[in-house]
Amino acid sequence: MKEQPIIVQGAMSVETAELIGALTDAQEEPFGPWRCVRGRLFGHPVVIQETQWGMANAAALAALAIERYAPRAILSQGTAGAHDAGLDVYDIVLGARTVNESAWQSHYRPEGAGAPYDDLKQLGVFAWDAEKQAFTQEVYHAADEALLAAARRAAPRYPRGKVVEGTIGTCDSWNCAIDRVKFLRRFYGSLCEEMEGDAVAQIAQSFGVPFLAIRIISNSILKNQDPWDLGTGPACQGFVREVVREYWGD
Ligand code: 5AD
Repeated sequence: MKEQPIIVQGAMSVETAELIGALTDAQEEPFGPWRCVRGRLFGHPVVIQETQWGMANAAALAALAIERYAPRAILSQGTAGAHDAGLDVYDIVLGARTVNESAWQSHYRPEGAGAPYDDLKQLGVFAWDAEKQAFTQEVYHAADEALLAAARRAAPRYPRGKVVEGTIGTCDSWNCAIDRVKFLRRFYGSLCEEMEGDAVAQIAQSFGVPFLAIRIISNSILKNQDPWDLGTGPACQGFVREVVREYWGD
């Protein structure tokens, strides 16, 4: 039987280069212009995809990777901005669940009544629900339990900060207004924001592939820890490598 790799996605080279560098038997297997490298970590098959920023890129590459590799699991990992004031740059968030923070409907307001950013109801997105045998509208996507358990086992070995669990919010946006960040924290319960995770969770769920998002805080508007610390990209990959090792049971 064909070996089933773990797919690890990162948006930028600073979020993928360490993992690619750690591969043995590395083979470049691009999808069009996107970099995709198959190889081995600790002797086990993995595929690293460099998706570029954003939900459409990451979701499309997840679907293509599922079709080409029939993966055992998919990880979306990389940098994020804090929604929680308790988080510092270099802390890691395990996405016990993810949420698409662009999936909302505003309440009716007449012309001239303004469009406040917080006058919303949650909408969710449509992923395949295997139990119901239907595409159902869901706000949150839960992480795979075995992947989450592997990340919990790796957590005590992470040297650069805290490892916490919670909700990761995804949207093709970067929020720098503190009131909006606080609103998103309240409205969705998100600990941090990024631009890929939930889009991949939606596709992974629809194809029945185990999924986990792992994000490192690289900036916090709440703590004046702006701008973006790209040194967090390699630190996150170091943690992800340990998660992959735990998942394989080494
Ligand atoms: N808001 C949104 N995305 C962020 N990223 C890092 N910090 C943030 C933030 N504050 C991630 C996204 C995307 C790139 C901009 O880095 O996931 O890939």
